[in-house]
Parts: sequence; structure tokens; C-alpha cells
Amino acid sequence: MKAAQISEFGHADKVKINEVDTPTIKPDQVLVEVHAASINPFDTAVREGNFEIPLPITLGGDIAGTVVEVGSQITHVAQGDKVYGQAHAVSGASGAFAEFAATGGEQVGKAPSNLDFKEAASLTLVGQSAMQVIQGHINLQPNQKILIHGGSGGIGSVAIQIAKHIGAHVATTANGEGVDYVKKLGADEVIDYKVQKFEDLLHDFDAIFDTVGGETYKRSYEVLKPGGVIVSMIEQPDHALMEQYKVTAIAQQTQTTPESLAKLTSLIESGVIAPHVDKVFPLEQIAQAFETRESGKVLGKVVLVIK
Ligand SMILES: NC(=O)c1ccc[n+]([C@@H]2O[C@H](COP(=O)([O-])OP(=O)(O)OC[C@H]3O[C@@H](n4cnc5c(N)ncnc54)[C@H](OP(=O)(O)O)[C@@H]3O)[C@@H](O)[C@H]2O)c1
Repeated sequence: MKAAQISEFGHADKVKINEVDTPTIKPDQVLVEVHAASINPFDTAVREGNFEIPLPITLGGDIAGTVVEVGSQITHVAQGDKVYGQAHAVSGASGAFAEFAATGGEQVGKAPSNLDFKEAASLTLVGQSAMQVIQGHINLQPNQKILIHGGSGGIGSVAIQIAKHIGAHVATTANGEGVDYVKKLGADEVIDYKVQKFEDLLHDFDAIFDTVGGETYKRSYEVLKPGGVIVSMIEQPDHALMEQYKVTAIAQQTQTTPESLAKLTSLIESGVIAPHVDKVFPLEQIAQAFETRESGKVLGKVVLVIK
């Protein structure tokens, strides 16, 4: 089968399409024929060598496809099911950017019936991340005020949709074409982060969802009211700022489980979350797909079509 692999870390041009053996599965795994996969910032981090892993490695995490074989311990999906989930080689799977992926049975769930494979692949990591933060850590309530950083990104764009469905007041940071995009998603207030300082404009917020990190994260604490909560996809809690502003800070670690995927499927099938596939590439154009995602000109997701 074809697989997009690296045998050395580096730029997108290090990724090569290799002919490799189709993976075999263990009793707790499933084999998925991958129809589509999507690219996340984590895939760039793996490619650039931020993790100590033996090479060569097949890149990619998000998959959507058809189950072709199930291990003896797997009961929640069966051969022929359309599934979506994760298949990271760094987590013991065989990698997503390939014609077939062997991954833990717990890493996949039935795909939403109203999406095609491209759309389903685009939502697995970002959808679970946004859902686990907004409904879990923050437990956002109607009429609460939330600031979502990076609203035009993969996670931010899903977070806006969930927060609006709950009935919260949503402010978000975006730039360029992203400003109109987040307005269409339903954001009530949009701050152009290259022109305006969000901390000068927003006050007494109940919650902040940070998908950007760095200075943006540190400056966010002053937007919260006492008792508020800040959750970051990137940063660890800053205890001095927590104490100063009397707020709670949490670092998100997204978990893929069949339960989490089932909840996500239900949000998608009930129309709360719509996918936003911006650009689609065939597997052979993986380098171009990475470069496009890393250009900063993507609204939503970049997806690879494999079958
Ligand atoms: N902890 C975990 O378990 C976990 C899981 C998944 C993802 N993550 C991390 O979460 C982060 C977000 O992931 P993602 O998939 O949503 O990435 P993404 O699609 O690249 O979105 C990031 C967004 O941030 C925007 N942005 C950049 N600088 C900004 C600034 N100063 N102020 C406001 N917005 C800014 C970008 O907009 P522009 O287009 O304007 O640059 C982009 O839309 C990544 O760092 C990823 O690695 C962590």
C-alpha cells in the first residue's frame, strides 16, 4: 500500500510516498481502509522532530474510512462500518496518511451518517477538542460570556458553533478573511488580533478558550471576571496569574475514546457542528497539503483524499 512517510525530520519536502506492507492488527486493534485524513498542527510537530520516535514513520492522526478487519477484542464496530477517529504512529497505531491504518479499537467510532469521509476526517481531533473543553472543563452555560482565541482555526471554528448552540455570548479573535468567516459561524464580537488588543475591549468574561498560546494566553487572564476559567490547548496553568486574577486555569489534553466520538457524532448529526473543509489534496500532494496548512491562509481544515 501507499503511505506518506518521513525517514528524516524536517520541512514538508521530507515527506515521501512509499510502498509499504499493509499493517497487520493485534486483538485490540482494527484495520481501516482510509478514505480521507486531515492534517493538524500536531502532524507538523511530529514531522519537524518534536517527538523522539524511530524512523521511518507514517505521518497523520485523523482518519475516516471503512473497517476491513476487527481484532478479537473489539465489539463496538464491525467489518464494513464507516468509522472516524485517530491512527497516530506516535500512539502505537500505524499512521493515518496511508491507504490502510491499523489502530486501537478505542480510537475509532461510527462516523456521522450525514457527512462524507472528507468531512468526517476533518472533525475528529478538532471536534473532540472543542467539545471536551466547552462542555467539559468550562461547562459553558446560556448567556455566559466566552472569548475563543483563533476562531477561524480548526478547533476555534468548532468551538464557536458549540458555544452559540449553548446560547452563550461569543467573542473571538481572527484576522483577514477569518473575520468574515467567524461572523458567519455566529460570533457576536470579533476582534482583529493584528489591529486591536482584545484585553482593552473585553471585560468580565466567564470563560476563555485559548487555541493560540504564548503572549495571547498570558494577556487573556485580565479579561476574566473573578471565578472565571481559562482553558488552553497549548499552555500549562500560570499559577501567579491565577492567584492575581482569582481564576481557574486548565490545560486541555484531548482524549479520543468511543464515548467521546459518539458524543461528537451526535452533535454533528443534530446539526450543532458543521464541518469546514477548506482545501482538499490527493495523498501524492502531501507536501503541498502541509505547506498550505502551514501558510496561515486556511479557514477550517486541510484534508487528504486517499481512496
Ligand atoms: N492539548 C491537546 O490535546 C491538543 C489537541 C489538539 C490541538 N492542540 C493544539 O491546539 C492548537 C490549535 O489547533 P488547531 O487545529 O485549531 O490549529 P489551527 O487550525 O492552526 O488554528 C489556529 C488558529 O489560530 C489563529 N491565530 C494565530 N495567531 C493568533 C493570534 N495571535 N491571535 C488569535 N488567533 C491567532 C490562526 O489564524 P491565522 O490564520 O490568522 O494565523 C488559526 O486560525 C495547536 O497548537 C495544536 O497543536 C492541542
